[in-house]
Amino acid sequence: MSDQDSAPAPAAKKLFIKTYGCQMNVYDSQRMAEAMGAEGYVLTENQSDADMVLLNTCHIREKAAEKLYSDLGRLKPLKAERPDLKIGVAGCVAQAEGGEIQRRMPIVDLVVGPQAYHRLPAMVRAGRGVDTEFPAEDKFEHLPKPAATRRAPAAFLTVQEGCDKFCAFCVVPYTRGAEVSRPVARILAEARDLVGRGVREITLLGQNVNGWHGEGPEGAEWGFGRLIRAIAEIDGLDRIRYTTSHPNDMADDLIAAHRDEPKLMPYLHLPVQSGSDRILKAMNRRHTVAQYLRLIERIREARPDIMLTSDFIVGFPGETDRDHQDTLDLVRAVNFGTAFSFKYSPRPGTPAYERPEVEGAVADARLQELQALLSSQQKAAQQGMVGRELGVLFEKPGRNPGQMVGKSDYLHAVFVEAPQAKVGDLVRVRITHSAPNSLAGVLAA
Ligand code: SAH
Ligand code: SF4
Ligand code: F3S
Repeated sequence: MSDQDSAPAPAAKKLFIKTYGCQMNVYDSQRMAEAMGAEGYVLTENQSDADMVLLNTCHIREKAAEKLYSDLGRLKPLKAERPDLKIGVAGCVAQAEGGEIQRRMPIVDLVVGPQAYHRLPAMVRAGRGVDTEFPAEDKFEHLPKPAATRRAPAAFLTVQEGCDKFCAFCVVPYTRGAEVSRPVARILAEARDLVGRGVREITLLGQNVNGWHGEGPEGAEWGFGRLIRAIAEIDGLDRIRYTTSHPNDMADDLIAAHRDEPKLMPYLHLPVQSGSDRILKAMNRRHTVAQYLRLIERIREARPDIMLTSDFIVGFPGETDRDHQDTLDLVRAVNFGTAFSFKYSPRPGTPAYERPEVEGAVADARLQELQALLSSQQKAAQQGMVGRELGVLFEKPGRNPGQMVGKSDYLHAVFVEAPQAKVGDLVRVRITHSAPNSLAGVLAA
């Protein structure tokens, strides 16, 4: 045995990552953790014993962006105590504010934008830096291949980055850059790798995921429906989901996939933002209420048991009471399984930023009214699951002995007594009970 072999391995350095914002950031954090793993970092759940803290940020609303600065403020004493602690800011605030973050908060060592994080390991070695370029090289391909470690049964896979839609309120086209679709071969390779590591459900991600159009194996361009069919052929993969979609990119082939492909879950998040044609136009959404409703009809014809969810913005500049009533009417007409609704937040650099705002109290009242309606629909949809038999993919043990928790076909958390079961099992469950944020059921005979 050489001296080198007998030397004790250096203690692994510890990395703490906090993720804000959308699922794409969750995916990115996972990939950054894997990239840093190749540098000898292991993840820790405990910020106070970390050698490096990485904040993966979101810029979508003012409140989201402010969280970064309050979290950095809380990190100050830790950095004063341990000056060698590295602090990194990644994600969409990093992109939007760049070097400004370091000027405001000198405790920050590294700032890395969402398209440059394959360069993070090199930046960490260099010690300090800012990288918010949109490099020509593809970040996905320049990240080290992940170690063949076991993964949780449900995973995200980003297939498309960026956005070219330029909705008048939205920062994403600026923080994530232009729309880029990853090629089929790389997506399939990543999906197979995930399945080989224990994954049974994949959620395909993109800011306009249904607008994905990538290069197929023979160079021909594929649409998103075809990609889903190809992924569905992977043995061992049981469920496919995708998010987020734009109404204008729901191609016929994708709607047909909802009819034909049993692995594609009967769940679709299709943000509409407003139920007023005037406001949709001002938002640059490029479709009308009638077009959205017709689209919903066609999707429901293809897959009658599909659950629809959406996003709404209230108090967009120029929104009147009439426009707001139109939004409530749309919600009543569609009947959503659940939905997110937000008060409009003016974002610097977006076209709507300078427009006169709706009075705060008025917007608050509208938000409350919309949320009350949406939550009554959510409750009814959940109640409607009682008595049905659904697939449930177990993700973790529950609080009580012998209990497992998983997600239904419709993404509801379901608690089941299943002492023989293990994480990763996909079982049939008869739903017996609906609680405010979850369902309970028994294994179907
Ligand atoms: N790409 C997705 C959504 C991205 S952001 C899509 O096109 O639907 C997620 C949600 O945040 C949006 O659907 C919208 O409802 C909300 N949002 C985006 N910008 C916002 C802003 N400036 N103020 C309030 N909500 C906003
Ligand atoms: Fe933002 Fe609109 Fe693009 Fe969605 S489609 S990310 S809301 S600009
Ligand atoms: Fe936020 Fe960026 Fe996602 S702004 S919503 S983290 S793309």
